[in-house]
Amino acid sequence: MTSTAGRMSHLTPHFFSGLSTRIQVLQAEGRDIIRLDEGAPDLPPAPHILEALYSSASRPDAHSYQPHRGPRSLREAWAEMYRREYDVELHPADEIVPLLGSKEGIFHLNLAFVEPGDIVLVPDPGYVTYTRGALITGGEVHRMPLPPERGYLPDLDALPPEVLECAKLMWLNYPNNPTAAVANLEFFSQAVELARQYGFLLCHDAAYMQVAFDGERPPSLLQAPGAKDVAVEFNTLSKSHNMAGWRTGALLGNAEAVRALYTLKTNADSSHFLPIFEASTAALVGDQSWLVERNEIYRQRRDVVVAGLRRMGLPVRTPRASLYVWLPVPAGWCCASFVTAALEQAGVSLTPGTVFGPGGEGFVRISITAPLQRVQQAMDRLEAWLAKS
Ligand SMILES: Cc1ncc(COP(=O)(O)O)c(C=O)c1O
Repeated sequence: MTSTAGRMSHLTPHFFSGLSTRIQVLQAEGRDIIRLDEGAPDLPPAPHILEALYSSASRPDAHSYQPHRGPRSLREAWAEMYRREYDVELHPADEIVPLLGSKEGIFHLNLAFVEPGDIVLVPDPGYVTYTRGALITGGEVHRMPLPPERGYLPDLDALPPEVLECAKLMWLNYPNNPTAAVANLEFFSQAVELARQYGFLLCHDAAYMQVAFDGERPPSLLQAPGAKDVAVEFNTLSKSHNMAGWRTGALLGNAEAVRALYTLKTNADSSHFLPIFEASTAALVGDQSWLVERNEIYRQRRDVVVAGLRRMGLPVRTPRASLYVWLPVPAGWCCASFVTAALEQAGVSLTPGTVFGPGGEGFVRISITAPLQRVQQAMDRLEAWLAKS
């Protein structure tokens, strides 16, 4: 067997595969483990989305290859969603391309834009695919710290001009994974101006924009004036519509960037299953009222987590969006030791902050993706365990 390419050294197996193996061992020993680690929605999509899938799949003409841009009705549905929710106009013909979930698009965009030695600016802590995608092309990663005292927004004024001059891409992600922070339009406008000044492509990952509570309405970066000149937004139905396994998302915004990713994808994949495209259309333009009820379920879980942590004397911000609570670990622990002990001793699985980069040290991420009663049980277990530790 021949050796793998040197670039493979940048790709380590995903943290969660190792964690799942350990959890399986504990479960085989009879332990009950509550998983608040992954960010996968535990609830199903709305019935009208499932109906659209069933009726489309039962048509004999639904099973062949599809065009890489998907049906026009799907791109029109994304455009309608952006007009309805964000007052953003997008041209279905050239400013939208469907993705197989947003992760592949986030990864592949680097192949379309980044040359060896180019700089890719990524948030730290941040979703790991921004970094992995940059490294696989030979790009260099410049980490932008997300300080808690700045509301987990990077200080764009503090970025060195010599870094910005070599930057090809900048990644932002709000509502943020893992910190749960929300950005405002003023910040997005500042980022758009910087991208215009230095000529890089600004990439906003909006995976959690429709998971929000307490009346919060996270903005789209495409609402910032002139955004489409320099920016794209990645969107997905994984979190917004409980469709993580369906692998359906889109890249929206700057037409040149959309065309580049489209061209790359015409060579790398063979589009998607028509019933998934048609069900995605139903998700985007059908009844949205169920999202209010779904977000209310998350809000109740969030309240149980925040109240539980505060009862334990742990200072925690109340998140107003996303699926996460970002917890500073108590004194005397690092994030890895805290997470290992919580799993082994309390039977509660959390994610160490360093999975998201060195800037995540000192924090753990708690997901609200389990039923309310399990979330409550997890808080009770953590409280009892910490009282003994
Ligand atoms: C910040 C962020 N972006 C993108 C994704 C990818 O989502 P998907 O590929 O399911 O669209 C995730 C998934 O966890 C995420 O947390």
